[in-house]
Amino acid sequence: MSNLQQTLSIIKPDAVERSLENEIKEMFKSKGFSILKEKKIQIEKFEAEKFYKVHETKAFYNDLCAYLSSGPILVMVLEKENAVLENRKLMGATNPKDAENGTIREKYGISIEKNSVHGSDSVENAKIEIDFFFKD
Ligand code: CMP
Repeated sequence: MSNLQQTLSIIKPDAVERSLENEIKEMFKSKGFSILKEKKIQIEKFEAEKFYKVHETKAFYNDLCAYLSSGPILVMVLEKENAVLENRKLMGATNPKDAENGTIREKYGISIEKNSVHGSDSVENAKIEIDFFFKD
């Protein structure tokens, strides 16, 4: 049965700063993702705090929000069968040093914070995150 899904992907400041957007987009396309929408923006820290609200009790929350708002990011809506899980597989583990060969974070991630990409972790959060950046 078809299970076409959309998910939110962010190419984070560390990757945009190194001009890796096209290489990362090619990795998505070569795995069969369609990029339905994309925009390059820089967000304010209070917006990053809202986006990452689920992590507000974590010790790394403040640094994480400062980092996401520190430079331009590329936000995208990706579509594919089982896009949420497939994107998480392609990104690899949160910490690049644990990420499997061939994943985006293994190839480009610098640290657990500067891990190059974000992807929604569930279908429900994908809807919330897509609305966060693309609701018109
Ligand atoms: P992301 O998928 O964007 O979702 C939340 C982010 O928090 C995660 O990627 C990491 O970049 C970051 N993160 C998770 N755990 C830690 C940690 N222990 N220290 C610093 N950053 C973290």
